[in-house]
Amino acid sequence: MLEHDIDVYYKTVLDLVSLAGKVVSQGFSVAKRIETKSNTVDLVTEYDQRIEEILIKQLREKFPTHKFIGEESSAAGHEATLTDDPTWIIDPIDGTTNFVHGFPMVAICVALAINKDVIIAVVFNPILDHLYSAVRGKGAFKNGRPIQCSKQTELGLSQVIGAYGYSRDPAVLDAKSKNQRMIIEKAHSIRMMGSAALSLCLIAEGSCDAYVEYGAYIWDYAASDLIAREAGAYTCDPTGAPLNLSHRRMLCAATKELAEQISPLLTHIDYVSDSKKPTIMKRFLFL
Ligand code: IPD
Ligand code: CA
Ligand code: CA
Ligand code: CA
Repeated sequence: MLEHDIDVYYKTVLDLVSLAGKVVSQGFSVAKRIETKSNTVDLVTEYDQRIEEILIKQLREKFPTHKFIGEESSAAGHEATLTDDPTWIIDPIDGTTNFVHGFPMVAICVALAINKDVIIAVVFNPILDHLYSAVRGKGAFKNGRPIQCSKQTELGLSQVIGAYGYSRDPAVLDAKSKNQRMIIEKAHSIRMMGSAALSLCLIAEGSCDAYVEYGAYIWDYAASDLIAREAGAYTCDPTGAPLNLSHRRMLCAATKELAEQISPLLTHIDYVSDSKKPTIMKRFLFL
């Protein structure tokens, strides 16, 4: 791929995300129309829908042959399959519950994947004016300055980010609670941000050391996974297997050593074998 093409894609997405950020900021502190999706806690607002429409429309005008995977245009929460074609993966607002409640951890996430590899990533929190970005092989940046994750190798000295997500299935909640418990017994602390993308960006900039989540989608991780890795972090499936962005499971750690300490503590949740009902799995050893 030509450097020139990458520059054009990157510049285009930075401009668009800045425009979309104005819409998010404008909607942040005003009353909005709130609807529910898979259950009563899975929310969407007219801003989520409008921002996704703006981003897809403008990107399609510039790059008519490219494909799109966007949270709000994917049927009933099911992501479209990622192919080798250039594909923009969009989460118009990551942290919709935060957005609804006026909690400032919200971000617009845009990634471009080619041959299933993410090459450009932008995560923009317009409320705090934090712009995280990465181009594959070129490092990760926050507001234009290079960022690096911590070098932490000890779970006992780590600040870990967890998440409950939207499922209220008792077995899933039990597994997630158990995981939090296993981690908090050993770590300095657990935090919850309500934004998968910003959680990974916090690892990228060294404010937290590890993050585990089950149940998020490709649009939550595509951009922030590249940003974390370009900042030096290690991302994998929580079992220790290679990360698959479509498998709805993420373990991100500042170092592989830290990931290896967290993985064996976890009860894993499988979303792939039976997409109607997540399955709680036996523990795996780190591969
Ligand atoms: C959600 C947030 C949340 C995470 C969920 C995601 P949304 O995305 O990232 O932190 O726990 O798994 O679905 O719905 O706010 O875009
Ligand atoms: Ca999201
Ligand atoms: Ca979203
Ligand atoms: Ca959502």
